[in-house]
Amino acid sequence: MTEKNVLLEIEKEIAVITINRPKALNALNFDMITDLEQILIGLEKDDTVRVVIITGEKHFAAGADISGMAEFSPDEVRAYSFRHCFNRIENFPKPMIAVISGFALGGGLELALACDLRIGDKTAKLGLPEINLGLLPGAGGTIRLPRLIGAARAKELIFSGAPVDAEVALQYGLLNKIADDPLAEAKKMARMLASKPPVSLKMAKQCVNMAFDVEGVKAIEFESVAFAYCFATEDRREGVKAFAEKRAPKFTGK
Ligand code: CAA
Repeated sequence: MTEKNVLLEIEKEIAVITINRPKALNALNFDMITDLEQILIGLEKDDTVRVVIITGEKHFAAGADISGMAEFSPDEVRAYSFRHCFNRIENFPKPMIAVISGFALGGGLELALACDLRIGDKTAKLGLPEINLGLLPGAGGTIRLPRLIGAARAKELIFSGAPVDAEVALQYGLLNKIADDPLAEAKKMARMLASKPPVSLKMAKQCVNMAFDVEGVKAIEFESVAFAYCFATEDRREGVKAFAEKRAPKFTGK
C-alpha cells in the first residue's frame, strides 16, 4: 500500500488535514490536490465538524511539484490547476486555518491564502517564487495576496520571488499570529470558533469574501439578507436568550 500524502484526523468538532510528503517538502501534485478536494467534500457534509485546520508535516508546502509539471503543455497546465480546490477552500462553509512551519511557497502559500486564518511559527518562510521559474503564481496568488497585504507589498513578493520570514509576514498581515506551537494555538482558536453559531460563521465568511468581489452597495444588500437569514435560526434565539439569562449560549447549528 502506498503512503498517503494527505492525511485527515478528526478530534470532536475539529478536522486536521496534514500534507504528508516531507521528502519533497510537501510539494503538491495533482493527486494530492484531488485527495484534498475529496476530503473537503466529505467535511463539508459532516455537520459534526465545525472548523478545519490544514498543516504540513515538517514544512507547510514548497509549492506545486515542479518536476511533475515540467513537460505539460499550456492546456494541460490549465487543466492541472489547483484553482478549483483553492476556490473551494475560500468558499468552504466553515472556518479554515492554515498552520505554517517552514516553507509555504508558490502553490503552498496560495493554499494558505485561500484559508481564512494563518498561524505560523518562527521557522515560517512565505513567498511566491514562481517568477524564478519563468512563471507567475497560478493558483490565486496574484489576486489573494494583494487583497490581504495590499498591492505594493504583494508586487514586491511576486516580482522578486523572495520569501519573507514570520516576523515580516506578521507585520504584513500575512500571518495572524506567531506561536511556538502553531498547531496547538490553531486548535485553541478552532475550539473557540467551534463554540460560535455555525450559520452565523458561514454567512459572515460569505459576506467578508463578497466585500472583495462585489460592488459595495450590492455587498451591503447581501449582508442584510445574511443578517435576516441568521435571524431565522434557533441559534439566534438561543444567543439572545442566553444573553438575557446571563449564561453562556449553547449553539447547535440550527
Ligand atoms: N517541486 C518538486 N520538488 C520539490 C519542490 C517543488 N516545488 N520543492 C522542493 N522539492 C524537493 C527537492 O527537489 C528535493 O528533492 P530531492 O531530495 O529528491 O532532490 C527536496 O524537495 C528537498 O529540497 P531541497 O534539497 O531543494 O531543499 P533546500 O532546503 O535546499 O531548499 C527550497 C528548499 C528553497 C524550498 C527549494 O527546495 C526550492 O526552491 N523549492 C522550489 C520552490 C518553488 O519554486 N515553488 C514554486 C513551485 S511552482 C508553483 O507553485 C506554481 C503555482 O503557482 C501553483
